[in-house]
Amino acid sequence: MTRGSPSETPPGLSSLLIPSPAGVDDSPANVPVLVARAMAEARYTGFPNSCSAVVGLLLHRLASQVEAGTIGEIGSGLGVGTAWLASGMRPAIRLITIESDAARATALLGVFAARPSVEVLCADWPAILDHGPFALLFIDARPAKAVSPDVFLPAVVPGGTVVLDDLTPIDRWPPEWRGRPDPLRDAWSHHPGFAAGEHRLSDDAAVILARRHP
Ligand SMILES: C[S@@+](CC[C@H](N)C(=O)[O-])C[C@H]1O[C@@H](n2cnc3c(N)ncnc32)[C@H](O)[C@@H]1O
Repeated sequence: MTRGSPSETPPGLSSLLIPSPAGVDDSPANVPVLVARAMAEARYTGFPNSCSAVVGLLLHRLASQVEAGTIGEIGSGLGVGTAWLASGMRPAIRLITIESDAARATALLGVFAARPSVEVLCADWPAILDHGPFALLFIDARPAKAVSPDVFLPAVVPGGTVVLDDLTPIDRWPPEWRGRPDPLRDAWSHHPGFAAGEHRLSDDAAVILARRHP
C-alpha cells in the first residue's frame, strides 16, 4: 500500500530494470539451471512463497551489475531468489542469504552445494548485518520489512541497492486498503539516506528499489 501515486524510479536505476516484464515463461527450459533446481525443491516441499519470475529476472539483472563486494538476501525460502541472484552475479562476487527456518536452510545447502560463492546462514535475520555492507540487498522476510530503513543504512555500501518485493500496486488495492497509509512505502520513500522508488513489474506486482546515497 501507499498514499498518493507511486514515485518515479530513482535516477540511475531505470537502466537496470527489465524492459518487458509481462508474460515471463518460467518453465525449467527457460530459466537458469540453478533456478530450475530451486523451483523444483520449492515445489517438492510445497513452499508457496518463492519470488516470481519477473522479480527473479530483476534480481538477475541487478546482480549482474554488481562489480565488487557482497550481495545479501534476507529470507531465503527455498532459494529461488537466491538462485536468480547467483545465476546473474559475476564470478568474484559473494552472496550471503539468511533463513530462520532450519528445514529450508538445510534444503538450500543441497541446492547450492556446488556454489562456494553462495553462503547460507540459518539464523534470525539481524545476524546478516554483521556480514555487510552489501552492494545489493534483497529484503524478503516480513520481520525485516517491518523495521526502519535506518537499520539498513550501514548495511549497504554507498551507491548500493536495496530491493523489497511483494508490493501490491495501488490500483489493485482492495477497497478496505484505500486511503490508508502504507508504512513500508512511506518509510523507504521518505528516508533521507536512500533514493527510493516503486517500480511496477506486472499487473499485480511491484517492488521498491532504493539506492543508498553516495
Ligand atoms: C517470501 S519468503 C522468501 C522467498 C525467497 N526470497 C525467494 O525469493 O524465493 C520469506 C522467507 O523469510 C523467512 N523468514 C521469516 N522470518 C525470518 C527471520 N526473522 N529471519 C530470517 N528469515 C525469516 C521465512 O521462513 C521464509 O522462508
